[in-house]
Amino acid sequence: MQAVGELTGGMAHDFNNLLMAVQGNLEFLRSGIEGDAKQEKYLDTAMRAVGRGTDLTRRLLAFSRKQLLQPEPTAINDLVSDMLELIRRSIGPSIDVSVDLDAAVGKALVDPALLENALLNLSINARDAMPQGGSLRIESGMTTQASGFGGQDVVLQPGDYIMIAVHDTGTGMPPDVLERVFEPFYSTKETGKGTGLGLAMVYGFIKQSGGHIEIKSTVGEGTGVYLYLPVGEGAAPVNNAVPDTDEPLRGGEETILVVEDDPPVRDVIVGVLRQWGYDVKEAPNAFIAKQLIRDGLRPEMLLTDIIQPQGSNGIELADATVQYDPDCAILLMSGFSNKLLDLAENNALPYPLLTKPFSHEDLVRKVRFILDDRVETNLPGSGRL
Ligand SMILES: Nc1ncnc2c1ncn2[C@@H]1O[C@H](COP(=O)(O)OP(=O)(O)OP(=O)(O)O)[C@@H](O)[C@H]1O
Ligand SMILES: [Mg+2]
Repeated sequence: MQAVGELTGGMAHDFNNLLMAVQGNLEFLRSGIEGDAKQEKYLDTAMRAVGRGTDLTRRLLAFSRKQLLQPEPTAINDLVSDMLELIRRSIGPSIDVSVDLDAAVGKALVDPALLENALLNLSINARDAMPQGGSLRIESGMTTQASGFGGQDVVLQPGDYIMIAVHDTGTGMPPDVLERVFEPFYSTKETGKGTGLGLAMVYGFIKQSGGHIEIKSTVGEGTGVYLYLPVGEGAAPVNNAVPDTDEPLRGGEETILVVEDDPPVRDVIVGVLRQWGYDVKEAPNAFIAKQLIRDGLRPEMLLTDIIQPQGSNGIELADATVQYDPDCAILLMSGFSNKLLDLAENNALPYPLLTKPFSHEDLVRKVRFILDDRVETNLPGSGRL
């Protein structure tokens, strides 16, 4: 497990940089073939393959408990209720969906987007176990656990946990299957139907969130998957999401210092930002970036990769840049690496993050959003005015 985790974390970084270079350049090609349906079809196919590669890396990271989570106090009953429509649509009309939510259930400290993803995965497994139809029931409740809770893997603090269970009336699993379901790539589905990463991913995510997962299953009767999550209040982390809006993309004329050691990736980022009007300066590492700033460069934004060769890193560079100029906006980028989790305290980074691979649109939106946000937050009493 440990070894797989290390390997995945190391590979994901390189893999996401590769995907980023492929995706970024494919997107440049698009403007040249607009209106040519055949060429566009080839491009769409290639882009879909990039999407699958991205998804696969994300799942492997989840399994090896190496994701950057964004836990926040999440009202569990609301999250389940808000998902029902999506679940119903995903599993089809032959399965009856019901809920049994305990009003005593409050907030759990968990990454809401990943919890939704986990519940969707469990619902799809339930659907696959009920080819002739059946019923799916999502239950929530409070539980108090004694010491020793959490299995042999990680021992958890005794105390209160929020339980969410997904029950189905499907085929159930014999003991030899049940024993192996959390193994990555273990699937009883036909080749091409399942990657066998669904439960491995849910398992990794729940464990990394400080929770626990159990399955009870009887052949011919059905299965119940029980998730236990830590109860929690706490501060919401920096929001790393790309703003979800239909507004037209906007560029700008600000100076942006781009720090990225991978040349093809740097070329994509610099190319896109120049296309949108920005005055872009580039550096291959934090060392050279610091030099530029010491020599008087004052960018409005520092856009920097976090993990860099030669022992430096983007967070340290961001801290140093902000010392020179507190008004400089910071945006971090990363394709992920094991080292990232060491840098992130409680899984949270001190500055907003754009995860690789990202699209041209993600980049342009996020950069504009952070720059505008900076102007708003810096206006009152800003030393600049
Ligand atoms: N609710 C369930 N009822 C019966 N069997 C299940 C259920 N959930 C999982 N399984 C069994 O566990 C195996 C592993 O599940 P997992 O979700 O990890 O992978 P998968 O569903 O086969 O593929 P993927 O989720 O990647 O599409 C399944 O192939 C199936 O045999
Ligand atoms: Mg599955």
